[in-house]
Amino acid sequence: MSLASRLVDIHTHIYLPRYCALLRSRTSVPRILTSNRDGKPDDRLLILDHEPSGGRPVGPHYWERDEKIKFMDRHGIDLSVVSTANPWLDFLHPSEAKTLASQLNEDLEQYCADSPQLSPSLKRLYGFGLLPLVPDISITALLETIEQISKLSHLKGIIMGTKGIGKGLDDDALDPVWEALSKAGLVVFLHPHYGVDAKAWGEKDNGHVLPLALGFPFETTIATTRLILSGVFDRHPSLRLLLAHSGGALPQLSSRLASCIDHDPVVASRLAHDARWYLGKLYFDAVAYGPEELGFVSDVIARAGRFEAGASGSTGATVDRKLGSKRMMFGTDHPFFPPLKGTEKWRSVVENLEAIDEVSGWSQEEKEGVRGGNALSLFNLLL
Ligand code: URA
Ligand code: ZN
Repeated sequence: MSLASRLVDIHTHIYLPRYCALLRSRTSVPRILTSNRDGKPDDRLLILDHEPSGGRPVGPHYWERDEKIKFMDRHGIDLSVVSTANPWLDFLHPSEAKTLASQLNEDLEQYCADSPQLSPSLKRLYGFGLLPLVPDISITALLETIEQISKLSHLKGIIMGTKGIGKGLDDDALDPVWEALSKAGLVVFLHPHYGVDAKAWGEKDNGHVLPLALGFPFETTIATTRLILSGVFDRHPSLRLLLAHSGGALPQLSSRLASCIDHDPVVASRLAHDARWYLGKLYFDAVAYGPEELGFVSDVIARAGRFEAGASGSTGATVDRKLGSKRMMFGTDHPFFPPLKGTEKWRSVVENLEAIDEVSGWSQEEKEGVRGGNALSLFNLLL
């Protein structure tokens, strides 16, 4: 099998044992709460405010490498780029966050380095490191951690939430961080955790549905839009930002965003391009669960080419549709969304694979790219 036709999972999480130990030691959210149910220890993960039904059941899927590999084997996944799951280090004091970031980055490097070989030059596991992105951390501490990660050969990027160092990702203070990440060639995986104001969900008990289905993607939408508006992509054109959950609502709202900017000359004067152009600079996971959504996102990415400097964006301009799918990559969100019944394959995985397979308008070559080839080239693993 050629490397380019491998199945690669770029959205797959872990809570490393050291992080689990911290969560177990805590008495407030985020925490892992262990109790006794029917004489057996029962671990529950509480990471969101107002976590329904006493927390989510968690087990070795969340922390053991062998379980990750078994899951990969069961679904035909050749290689995974693993990231710590939310809420990362967001809740820690700066000195604790800095020390733990550096320890967890070493742990993840080892977790990947000790994984089975996929080919003579590739392992089966690579990772996204962590930065101590918490209020009052020094920029020097962040830059030191970027340097650490860039020297760990199995870490190919970093995962981050949307808070930055307290003021969000459009905070000017983060400019040296974007600069250093771009220079180091580290991919930034932007992932939600906080959702939107819980008051929006009303009073009915809808479990996790509204925060996960809507809150998470809206959070990503807002954070990415703020980044675009702050001019980060104009100042750091080589920054590679990968958006969770196919960019949330941003593809659907990008023309409305462009129109609102057009009608706000102060904001418009800050940007070098039409808002839709920036979507062509981003990368998107293919965790959208439906072929129509995937096809739509790839069309919106491809359309960005119409907004090259000076171009009118007119529908007559030619668009290379393949440029859209090339920026999209398969993901599973493992170990979240496990099957409720003991089925062989996870529905959340099968659905995303079928969605890729069923996008009308994608050639076999494009589908293979989304299944794995695009990720291998983004992470420089096509050796
Ligand atoms: N739930 C989470 O808390 N995080 C994810 O990444 C997915 C589901
Ligand atoms: Zn996720």
